[in-house]
Amino acid sequence: RLERIWLLLGTGSLVVFLIILGVMACGLGLNPPGHMHTIVPEQVKTTAPFDKPALTQIGPNEYKASMIAEAFAFTPGEIAIPRGAKVHFEITSPDVVHGLLIPNTNVNIMVVPGHVTEFEYTFKKSGDYAMLCHEYCGIGHHMMMGKLVVQ
Ligand code: CUA
Repeated sequence: RLERIWLLLGTGSLVVFLIILGVMACGLGLNPPGHMHTIVPEQVKTTAPFDKPALTQIGPNEYKASMIAEAFAFTPGEIAIPRGAKVHFEITSPDVVHGLLIPNTNVNIMVVPGHVTEFEYTFKKSGDYAMLCHEYCGIGHHMMMGKLVVQ
């Protein structure tokens, strides 16, 4: 009987330990809910919404940009939005690590194969913005750029 109690205590403390580990992992930002999820890289281009990467309006002057970064281009490569638009970026890669940097904003995203990274930004100033890959990704890295126009 005593053994059974010890066994229960052992199992109980293991469960508590695992829960603590899980909470810590979330706290460290390894897997914050709603901010990152994963897809097998080979399946990125057949998994919604990345099978049809696009800008979609989700509210009054609020948009979602579902994007793919792939050697050596962004899809969509050109985005046009009205001034003041809030854009929720969700971006992933089917091949290697890329980046998405938009100068003059704080958009600075690392794009890891199979990981969906989310970031939001409100474009308060009109103008042409560059979307640049800032992680070395191969021979065409320096040509990997898109355009974002705020009207
Ligand atoms: Cu993609 Cu550098």
